[in-house]
Amino acid sequence: MESILDLFRLDGQVAIVTGSGRGIGAATAIAYADAGADVVISARTVAQLEETAEKVRARGRRALIVPCDVLDAEQRQNLVEKTVDEFGRLDILVNNAGGWPPKPTLDTTEKEFESCFRFNVTTAFAMTRLAVPVMARTAGAGAIVNISSVAGRFNARGFAAYGTAKSALSFLTRTLAQDFAPKVRVNGIAVGSILTEALSNFMNDDLERQMLAKTPMRRLGRVEDISACALYLASPAASYVTGEIYGVNGGLTGIQVEMPLADI
Ligand SMILES: NC(=O)c1ccc[n+]([C@@H]2O[C@H](COP(=O)([O-])OP(=O)(O)OC[C@H]3O[C@@H](n4cnc5c(N)ncnc54)[C@H](OP(=O)(O)O)[C@@H]3O)[C@@H](O)[C@H]2O)c1
Repeated sequence: MESILDLFRLDGQVAIVTGSGRGIGAATAIAYADAGADVVISARTVAQLEETAEKVRARGRRALIVPCDVLDAEQRQNLVEKTVDEFGRLDILVNNAGGWPPKPTLDTTEKEFESCFRFNVTTAFAMTRLAVPVMARTAGAGAIVNISSVAGRFNARGFAAYGTAKSALSFLTRTLAQDFAPKVRVNGIAVGSILTEALSNFMNDDLERQMLAKTPMRRLGRVEDISACALYLASPAASYVTGEIYGVNGGLTGIQVEMPLADI
């Protein structure tokens, strides 16, 4: 090894990043291209996929666009198949598509609770089941990065659906790491508040002040804060790391958003 930075390279590797049309997924796809990987760009809105793919290609890497709603089994299967058809291998999977707004528990229906679980947990489980045998067969090894949340680490009002789902995703991550070692490493990131479209949808000045007051690092996160960690976890630099959930959240010790007590 000439330099420690060589361990952060992904030359010759192929990565699938779900939800990579914008936000954390797009930044992760671009980071992987910077590190030398070819990237499969995937989400539902094709125009956004094209924007991310353009940035990957501008870095001299190949980008394959495969539109995929992760909630659809056939589309998930197609995503993995198209990857292998095009590149002949799969090394990295980032289960990034996910999310759910906080909502008072008594207003959250059973159907919403289950949909949130399916979106954040079942889809990552299903993508992993598809990807792991392909990684082992085509690359002999692999790395999976699951995008979890501080909401799965700390208990807070209004997070029964999302917090439970992300907590399950973090638990699933640690469990799958046991299943698939030593060939495939599985890690996660407990993401804090990152200014993406998902967050700006309900952000205002008052809420931002409230959130910063509870954030030791005194700023909201940037997508690169997460993609830098996602690069580390996918790269040979983390070849001895599996079953870990890394916090990238400005030092939070709780959820920044205060929801009201239930009116019971
Ligand atoms: N931003 C935060 O503060 C924060 C905090 C903690 C955790 N996270 C987690 O980080 C991940 C990414 O969030 P983000 O903030 O980057 O969100 P975002 O900016 O809204 O981007 C979400 C991406 O996922 C895609 N997507 C949505 N539904 C999908 C589906 N059914 N199938 C496939 N792709 C889908 C979206 O594209 P289409 O709509 O076109 O499909 C988009 O490309 C999520 O798992 C979220 O829970 C975010």
